[in-house]
Amino acid sequence: MEYIKLNDENKIPAIGFGVFMIPNDGPTYDAVLEALKAGYRHIDTAAAYFNEEDVGKAVRDSGIPRDEIFVTSKLWLQDHGYESAKRGIARSLRKLGLDYIDLYLVHQPYGDVAGAWKAMEEAKEEGKIKSIGVSNMSPALWNKFVPEFTTKPAVNQVEFNPLFQQKEIRRLMAQTDTKLEAWYPLGHGNAELLSVPVITKLAGKYGKNPGQIILRFELQEGVITLPKSTNPQRIKTNLDIFDFTLTEDEMNEMRSLDTGKGSHDPDAPGVEEMLRNAFVITD
Ligand code: A2P
Repeated sequence: MEYIKLNDENKIPAIGFGVFMIPNDGPTYDAVLEALKAGYRHIDTAAAYFNEEDVGKAVRDSGIPRDEIFVTSKLWLQDHGYESAKRGIARSLRKLGLDYIDLYLVHQPYGDVAGAWKAMEEAKEEGKIKSIGVSNMSPALWNKFVPEFTTKPAVNQVEFNPLFQQKEIRRLMAQTDTKLEAWYPLGHGNAELLSVPVITKLAGKYGKNPGQIILRFELQEGVITLPKSTNPQRIKTNLDIFDFTLTEDEMNEMRSLDTGKGSHDPDAPGVEEMLRNAFVITD
């Protein structure tokens, strides 16, 4: 596994295992234990995934020292604001059953983000959270919130794949050395992406599958990826990308695939309201 250094000097495993949509009370527990067995050391959950309990239990039961596993969770919108965020952080810690969370993110950047961020900064000072970051920040949302932050976000977790390379937000994030974490790093299994000739050509050359070529490109771009798979073989092989290197010309070919368009637009009208109504986190 390769590690990426964050702007607060903490290190994060470059590939993580995401548990979005995996149910609690068994399935997430089994999936996380399997992922740890396959070699993953970075698990990405959220309050709004409703499976923090299983993630924490699997981490505790794995037999792997806690400091060798990187755990991310995220604060949901209902907990924005200073006092609410303190409660949200305490709830995540309690559900995870862990003494600290490696990385905690503002899941959706709407409402009283500044108040939530202050609570997250304090939790970081208290050692309850090691690194803090944001998610789904477009350039407009970044410019609205981040200039006022005292602690600059360690990461911004956004949609990213070779067809949607987020060039504008990456320029802003470079100013604070904020790392990009990619959700949907394989375009959510988009068949069009997986059959792009540049990618299938490189897969042939390196003896890898198209998904591995995409993940290698993203790694070399300095992006932290959260590839999703329910297939045990692909869960394993998506980690097997550390034994080859794309040349600079090949990286440029991959960079030229960007269309500037993805599936989620955080600035679109109605998105905030839709998300606010999507989940209620209970104690
Ligand atoms: P499967 O679960 O059958 O492996 P994303 O991470 O961008 O959301 O993409 C997830 C989708 O990509 C899933 O449909 C998953 O299917 C598929 N997938 C995961 N790994 C690979 C791979 N190495 N090559 C092709 N498809 C993959």
